[in-house]
Amino acid sequence: QKNEIRVAIDGPAAAGKSTVSKMVAKELSFIYIDTGAMYRALTYKALNKQVSLEDEDKLADVLADTSIELIQGKEQQHVLVDGEDVTHDIRTEKVTNNVSHAAKHPEVRLEMVKRQQELARKRGVVMDGRDIGTHVIPDAELKIFLKASVEERAKRRYEEMLQKGFSVDIEKIKQEIEQRDQIDSKREAAPLIKADDAIELDTTNLSIDEVKEAILKAAAKVLPDKGEKS
Ligand code: CDP
Ligand code: CDP
Repeated sequence: QKNEIRVAIDGPAAAGKSTVSKMVAKELSFIYIDTGAMYRALTYKALNKQVSLEDEDKLADVLADTSIELIQGKEQQHVLVDGEDVTHDIRTEKVTNNVSHAAKHPEVRLEMVKRQQELARKRGVVMDGRDIGTHVIPDAELKIFLKASVEERAKRRYEEMLQKGFSVDIEKIKQEIEQRDQIDSKREAAPLIKADDAIELDTTNLSIDEVKEAILKAAAKVLPDKGEKS
């Protein structure tokens, strides 16, 4: 259908992908798919089962045996692993600091990409991650690559944590973000990289609304029927 497209949003940690993707999806009445949550779900389960995140074969076995569901609730999206709601458990520091290790293995990515492509078969999706524009939906009608300085990204995470009532060290957050970006960008299988045909948006000095508007404007160009403001 003409007014239903696939929007791929990639970029490094805390660039604003999920926040803005949700807003864009809402505005366009599209579904939002958080692929990072899927890697987090696998990491959570592997850590619980004490499976080494360096053991590619075992991890692939665990994944083959794991159902991961993204369910849109009234207020937020819920993540279910084997039917259990792990929405909050997959956001812990432990999962965050381990997820890039689980996500670097080709066998794991192969299966994840397969599942994600299945989810993206429906048009009218906004999908965010690291390799959406390059591997998951290489023919997406709209590709966005969000970036921001690491200082700004660390500040955003820091403020988010403070709001949630956690006391955190901004320097530590910055280091953790840098380390995750490093693993995600340097891995051999589908590294974090801007697709050639992606629109790059540096959000360092942009508000969330400005980023949202920029993406909606780009979407309007490939969505002739929606009549979005130009
Ligand atoms: O939201 P945040 O930037 O903290 O991370 P996320 O989007 O939840 O992704 C967590 C991790 O999953 C990333 O650091 C990557 O290691 C991995 N990931 C990936 O490899 N490919 C994707 N399409 C999405 C996430
Ligand atoms: O999904 P990703 O890791 O790329 O980032 P996020 O979790 O959506 O955003 C990280 C934080 O930055 C959130 O608390 C946002 O409210 C904030 N933020 C933003 O996303 N974009 C801006 N232009 C400014 C702040």
